[in-house]
Amino acid sequence: MALTGKKLLLGLTGGIAAYKAAELTRRLVKSGADVRVAMTDGATRFITPVTMQALSGQPVWTDLWDPRVSDAMGHIELSRDRELIAVVPASADFIAKLANGLADDLLSSLCLARRCPLLVAPSMNVEMWQNAATQRNVAQIREDGVVIAGPAAGDQACGEIGLGRMLEPAQIAADIEALLAPKALAGKRVLVTAGPTQEPVDPVRVITNSSSGKMGYAVARAAHEAGAKVTLISGPVALATPPGVARIDVRTAEEMFAAVKKAAPGSDVFVSVAAVADYKVKHPSPRKLKKVNGRAVNLELVENPDILAYVAGMKNAPYCVGFAAESEDLARNAAEKRAKKNVPLIAANLAQDAVGTDDNAIKLYDARGEHDLGRGPKLELARKLIAHLAGVLPSGK
Ligand code: CTP
Repeated sequence: MALTGKKLLLGLTGGIAAYKAAELTRRLVKSGADVRVAMTDGATRFITPVTMQALSGQPVWTDLWDPRVSDAMGHIELSRDRELIAVVPASADFIAKLANGLADDLLSSLCLARRCPLLVAPSMNVEMWQNAATQRNVAQIREDGVVIAGPAAGDQACGEIGLGRMLEPAQIAADIEALLAPKALAGKRVLVTAGPTQEPVDPVRVITNSSSGKMGYAVARAAHEAGAKVTLISGPVALATPPGVARIDVRTAEEMFAAVKKAAPGSDVFVSVAAVADYKVKHPSPRKLKKVNGRAVNLELVENPDILAYVAGMKNAPYCVGFAAESEDLARNAAEKRAKKNVPLIAANLAQDAVGTDDNAIKLYDARGEHDLGRGPKLELARKLIAHLAGVLPSGK
């Protein structure tokens, strides 16, 4: 059981998603965790403490002035022995309190007095989530080191559709497990590339591809969760930087190459997830190109440097992982790519499975053969990839 003996404090705030905390508690207890529950007054309007007590098997705490906790700094004691506090659901109001360090009820006092990591799973109406004040507060608590799980997009209890819906209990449980898992890459430096590159044709036009960057960002996040110091070199994407990851933005393959050349020598692992454009325009026009009515236009393309092959060929090269997006015959293409680029590990997926979506299906190919990571959300596959990597890294790397 992934959470055997782990001591958690689960905090509930007022929101309709509070009922999902019941299912989460059941899952956490089933995977071996000791779950202590604290609820705000608002939370008790949505789900009763009795329900949470029955599922956690422990008394539930709701009141700062409860005689059981108010004597001898007891409210601080309630979080002292905990390895993680998870606030599920976290309302807009509660996030605002966290951002400002308020402690006017039991749960906010426990959060302020904690020594352990804090995860929050926001749950609110889409307009409340998008409000500048909420976004400011979320950015603040993220900067303060709080882990934000979600929210997801989709149907909301209020009838609207959009971002703000709480993650499902299974996803929150997986995030909690990842946070508490042994740090398999502690002390390692991991370099990740992600996203597409843009190759200029003229000042306003580019050649690019439809990579979203999601897989590379998931790998960076999973490596950080596993205790690594992560540098993420990213092409142009619309994604938030994973917490704790150092991000360097680039546009062209040449810029990515220069950034990687600088960062690679200090790295233990290089995971090349970027969809680097194989070709660039030989002579990009300094002026915007005009239409030439009725005539075909030819662009002369020349090859970009192969960043992965360069790093794999370095003296004292980091352990290199290549990504291969193929349209068919994964095993043969992956084996060829391993040999051609001299890379010990190739993560192969079918391009049609991966591009732009949140899910993927990945198989790994290394000296020991094929390892099927199965199909699932990109973050889940990234975590499996990192776990595999931790097992095959040469000692001393
Ligand atoms: N890659 C790279 N630099 C390039 C092209 C690719 O670092 N200029 C990396 C990618 O990040 C990926 C791996 O190489 O990890 C595989 O990329 P792919 O484009 O599939 O390989 P190619 O050698 O370009 O083969 P193909 O002919 O299939 O395009």
